[in-house]
Amino acid sequence: MKKNVKKRVAVITGASSGIGLATAKMLKSHGVVVYGMAYNDFEAEFNYIKCDVTNVEQIESSMKEIFEKEGRIDYLVNCAGMGISGSVENSPNEKIKKIYDVNFFGTVNMCKAVLPYMRKNSFGHIVNISSVAGELPIPFQTFYSATKASIESFTAGLSMEVKPFGIKAVCVLPGDTKTGFTNAREKNEVDDASYGKRVSNSVGQMEHDEEHGMTPDSVAKVICKVLYKKNPKPINVVGFKYKFFIFLTHILPKKFVYKVLYDMYAKKNK
Ligand SMILES: NC(=O)c1ccc[n+]([C@@H]2O[C@H](COP(=O)([O-])OP(=O)(O)OC[C@H]3O[C@@H](n4cnc5c(N)ncnc54)[C@H](OP(=O)(O)O)[C@@H]3O)[C@@H](O)[C@H]2O)c1
Repeated sequence: MKKNVKKRVAVITGASSGIGLATAKMLKSHGVVVYGMAYNDFEAEFNYIKCDVTNVEQIESSMKEIFEKEGRIDYLVNCAGMGISGSVENSPNEKIKKIYDVNFFGTVNMCKAVLPYMRKNSFGHIVNISSVAGELPIPFQTFYSATKASIESFTAGLSMEVKPFGIKAVCVLPGDTKTGFTNAREKNEVDDASYGKRVSNSVGQMEHDEEHGMTPDSVAKVICKVLYKKNPKPINVVGFKYKFFIFLTHILPKKFVYKVLYDMYAKKNK
């Protein structure tokens, strides 16, 4: 952060683990007053609040408390998220609703709760964490991809609504990152009977890529850079490899792109 900048206050969701934790620590080391939030209690070297992002009452009272204490909320980074995997056909509706509740509505709830405070100070930067999987739909993680694509569309619309108030909203899209996300992924129990080994092969490939993926610190660096920018890009992909993939998918025919994704993640008898 530049020298002589006034006090900045950040709220980070998903701050107990992975990308959220790395971001909270990095912002704190830059002199930002950090409030980290997570579903469970956790030991933190920054201010922390136990708060479920699906619980609007808890969120609103937490944001009120922060504003009353600090007089401002400048940054919001929405990292709280989860994954589910399995075929569309065999995904229980409760699980589909849960992933939308946490990933999409959790992000919406947090944005709605901070906006009144950001408007009061005519300043605010919001970073919503989508994913490369929001741009490239991943079979057998279809609902995860759908929540992340929804976040991108939501953030783009929001950014235009709040621009006159001095508030910015953008997305950061990490690729595979080594975090607790892989172990926490909730898998369908009954898939392989109807889909052969396609589901477990596909999810196994994804797990392998995540376990050999980027560090959460490398994603946090991009998030911090984006937060401090006066004019950040709407979509910020992390990592050269993923930037290149997404660039290709924008210039190549969709039919070809889906064929490649099919071969990578859904092919029969793989
Ligand atoms: N890892 C990857 O490869 C990857 C790639 C692209 C995008 N992303 C995205 O990056 C974000 C961070 O993921 P990560 O990899 O850092 O995962 P992670 O290590 O599993 O961390 C997830 C965080 O979300 C919190 N959380 C989950 N449900 C919550 C709820 N209902 N209310 C409040 N907090 C909740 C968890 O809190 P508790 O610990 O208390 O449950 C935890 O702090 C997610 O949005 C994910 O989709 C990850």
